[in-house]
Amino acid sequence: MVTCLIIIRKFQPQDFPWVINIERKVFNEHDPFFYMQFYETCSDGFLVAEIYGMVVGYIVGFLPSGKTGRIFSLAVLPEYRNRMIGSALLEEIISILREMKAAEIVLEVRSGNLKARKFYETHGFYKTGIQKGYYNDGEDATLMRLEIPRKSI
Ligand SMILES: CC(C)(COP(=O)(O)OP(=O)(O)OC[C@H]1O[C@@H](n2cnc3c(N)ncnc32)[C@H](O)[C@@H]1OP(=O)(O)O)[C@@H](O)C(=O)NCCC(=O)NCCS
Repeated sequence: MVTCLIIIRKFQPQDFPWVINIERKVFNEHDPFFYMQFYETCSDGFLVAEIYGMVVGYIVGFLPSGKTGRIFSLAVLPEYRNRMIGSALLEEIISILREMKAAEIVLEVRSGNLKARKFYETHGFYKTGIQKGYYNDGEDATLMRLEIPRKSI
């Protein structure tokens, strides 16, 4: 098995074409403008995964208010999945949101996306409800939540 050095780091403007390429391949539903807006307004929560100079995944998380963090988007290129890259991105954003004093993180995931739902469950998220017809194509969203335990001193 080939092991690769994965670097998790903050998004930089020069990563924009990589991120949009991943978005197009994986979702093809977000306006690229959102990503530049996230960079301008909450860059601490915009991370990429880099392998040998290539960006192969990204995550966008933010703290819109109070103590509830949100995950807007997470994606890894299909050919780089199942190598813990998604887990590394998610664990890093949880750590960042914890530092920002978030007490919980919430997200929406397509109800039919069983792989992502299971992935989030592996990381401690649980289902809190369903939002009917949440997506543009009418698919329901499964709402998920993670409680962030306080760090013991
Ligand atoms: C969801 C997603 C981000 C996960 O990324 P990933 O890099 O494949 O994630 P990981 O490799 O950390 O984990 C994936 C699975 O591989 C397993 N895995 C990873 N490395 C492994 C290894 N060396 N040996 C055995 N299993 C391994 C993990 O346990 C995990 O299993 P689980 O899903 O049953 O918990 C990716 O599938 C993706 O981009 N999906 C499309 C977009 C999407 O659905 N985004 C989320 C909704 S916004």
